[in-house]
Amino acid sequence: MLVWREAMSTGHPEVDKAQKRFIAHINEFETTLRNAGADAAIGMFLTGLYEQVSINFGREEKVQRECAFPFQDAHHREHAALLGRLADIQNLYQAMPHKADHGVLLRDLAALIKDWVSHHMVQSDVMLRRYAPHQTAPHPARARP
Ligand SMILES: [Fe+2]
Repeated sequence: MLVWREAMSTGHPEVDKAQKRFIAHINEFETTLRNAGADAAIGMFLTGLYEQVSINFGREEKVQRECAFPFQDAHHREHAALLGRLADIQNLYQAMPHKADHGVLLRDLAALIKDWVSHHMVQSDVMLRRYAPHQTAPHPARARP
C-alpha cells in the first residue's frame, strides 16, 4: 500500500489533493487486483483516469505558469509521456478479450505507476515547492531592537 507523505508535497493544496487521490486510486487498484483479479482491477483503474489525469496535469501546469516555475517545458514533456503510456495501456486493454492473460498489461501498468510515483511525483512535482506561493500565514514581524 502506498502512503502519501509530506515529503511528496508540492506546496500547492489543489495539486497535493489531486496527488493524494491518485495514490488512493492506486491502492484501490491493488485491493481490487487481490480480490477480483486483473481484468476487473485494470478496468477499474483505467475508467475515467485519462480524463482525470489530463485535468490534473492541466491544473498543475497552470500553477507552474502562475509562479514562473523554470522547468515548465521539461515538466510538460514528462506529463505528455505519462499520458501517452496511459493511452497505450488503455488501447491495449480495450482491444483485449476479457478472458485473455493480462500479465503483460499488468507489467506495463506496474511500470507506469512506479515511474509516475517514484520519478515524476517524488522527483519532478516536488520541485514546485520552491516556487509555489506559500499557503501558510506569513512570518510574524521581527521585533525591533
Ligand atoms: Fe507533474
